[in-house]
Amino acid sequence: MKRDTVIGTFTVAALLCVVCSLLVSSAAVGLRPLQVSNRALERKRNILEAAGLASGRDAVAVDEAFRRIETRVVELATGQYVGTETIDPATYDPVAASRNPELSIAIAQEDDVAAIKRREKYALVHLVNNDAGEVEQIVLPVRGMGLWSTLRGFVSIDRDLKTVHGLTFYEHSETPGLGGEVDNPDWKSQWHGKLLFDDRGEIRIEVIKGTVDPGSPESMYQVDGLSGATITSRGVTNLLHYWFGDHGFGLYLGELRKQWGTADGEN
Ligand SMILES: Cc1cc2nc3c(=O)[nH]c(=O)nc-3n(C[C@H](O)[C@H](O)[C@H](O)COP(=O)(O)O)c2cc1C
Repeated sequence: MKRDTVIGTFTVAALLCVVCSLLVSSAAVGLRPLQVSNRALERKRNILEAAGLASGRDAVAVDEAFRRIETRVVELATGQYVGTETIDPATYDPVAASRNPELSIAIAQEDDVAAIKRREKYALVHLVNNDAGEVEQIVLPVRGMGLWSTLRGFVSIDRDLKTVHGLTFYEHSETPGLGGEVDNPDWKSQWHGKLLFDDRGEIRIEVIKGTVDPGSPESMYQVDGLSGATITSRGVTNLLHYWFGDHGFGLYLGELRKQWGTADGEN
């Protein structure tokens, strides 16, 4: 083939395109299992972080620390656990379920405080057991709209079912230095010990604009706002109000209060 012809140039370019696209697509397919396992590891790491259980980055250490955690499936409309014959927690993907019309519900606009449009019918909850095998914390998945993106994370609550143990976000696309400060360890450390509900069981937790006044009687429900990121801050408040309200984990927490004899407002 003559090299300096238009057809020759196009042929070489087309062949190059085919070879490169084959390389890229086989890399994408070949690396998929690794991506899936890395995502699962990252989720586990975040669950442990929300519960204050340091695990490091090593996969073996994460799996070892995760042995204290029992993952169960809850039907959000009833607040009841469902058995593995209905949903297997080992294979259930709540993110995929939230997009599947059979496994999710549309949220009416007036109820959609977290602006997520659809909610999965079944959620994974992670029970953190102490050495005696009693549940000492529950890590719950939460998500909601910030400014640019859906923030996905976990909130761990203590056995009193109203005190935050910790909060983490494992996925969002907020602006680094502004809304992205939801990942700032100093900001996240403020959540430990904050109360979600008041004595009447009303949800009160709030990311305020500005800095919390420690002398204020409201301070137990408040976390500092992210400066220059009022919309992301409001998004965090909203997602907590949705997921800890009756459309989220409200019925589940009500069931646990009955079982554990933890009345609203009592420890
Ligand atoms: C490039 C750019 C990125 C921004 N990123 C965020 C963000 O991630 N989260 C947020 O709440 N506001 C962000 N903002 C600011 C919002 O547009 C809005 O002004 C802000 O939320 C108001 O907060 P403030 O009252 O604390 O200033 C960004 C603004 C610009 C120009």
